[in-house]
Amino acid sequence: MNYEEVVFGRRSIRAFQKKPVPRSVIEEVVALAVRAPSSMNTQPWHLHVLTGEPLDRIRADNTERMLNGVPPAKDSRDIGNYQGGHRQRQVEIAVQLFEAMGIARDDKEKRQDWILRGFRQFDAPISIVVTYDRVLRDGDIAQFDCGALVNGLVNAAWANGLGCVVNSQGIMHSSVVREHAGIPDDQVVMICVAMGYPDEEFPANAVVSKRRPVDEVANFVGFEETVSS
Ligand SMILES: Cc1cc2nc3c(=O)[nH]c(=O)nc-3n(C[C@H](O)[C@H](O)[C@H](O)COP(=O)(O)O)c2cc1C
Repeated sequence: MNYEEVVFGRRSIRAFQKKPVPRSVIEEVVALAVRAPSSMNTQPWHLHVLTGEPLDRIRADNTERMLNGVPPAKDSRDIGNYQGGHRQRQVEIAVQLFEAMGIARDDKEKRQDWILRGFRQFDAPISIVVTYDRVLRDGDIAQFDCGALVNGLVNAAWANGLGCVVNSQGIMHSSVVREHAGIPDDQVVMICVAMGYPDEEFPANAVVSKRRPVDEVANFVGFEETVSS
């Protein structure tokens, strides 16, 4: 696959084949992802690659907390509910996904099931928990660096036949992830990425999310007007 095929072809994958992912493939994907740029090449990230029993324990504990109404306690700071254009785009992708899955607006049971799937990291065979060094927490740059890494990770995975979904639901209870993955206290849990071979039959996996157009997101300054003939 060339770059455009990867970038335009990739989409979030929310159901996976049972097939295990060889460690060598993940090592290759991680080796590509860590080529991401970072501020002054500080590379503040750590990747905790989880599978099998520890990952299942995280799923079980997350689900139990969710069902018992335990309020989320994430290491990373949230801004509360999205508003305006952010909210509009949040709703748009939810509508696309729910339509694909045949989940009606008022179908509480199916909606709850969808949320629980998220808390189980969509039953992916692999979860990569991305953390960064706590000493950098009060700045904004280490989080930016982790974002660059994760973009590389999902695209490298796609180029290797794997699918991913970046998943905040999986780290809603950061202490659960920290405990079962053995993450030291001097690291901040940033995000997790669920990964595996895509289940091609699962309708939501075919959903292509929309993007704001280039002329809306990019403000070009100092360019000469090109006269089209
Ligand atoms: C920081 C972050 C957190 C996310 N958390 C979730 C999540 O908890 N559940 C989920 O289903 N998707 C999650 N996503 C996936 C986004 O919904 C998805 O990337 C976005 O809708 C664009 O779709 P695409 O990845 O298919 O292009 C997350 C993505 C990011 C970058």
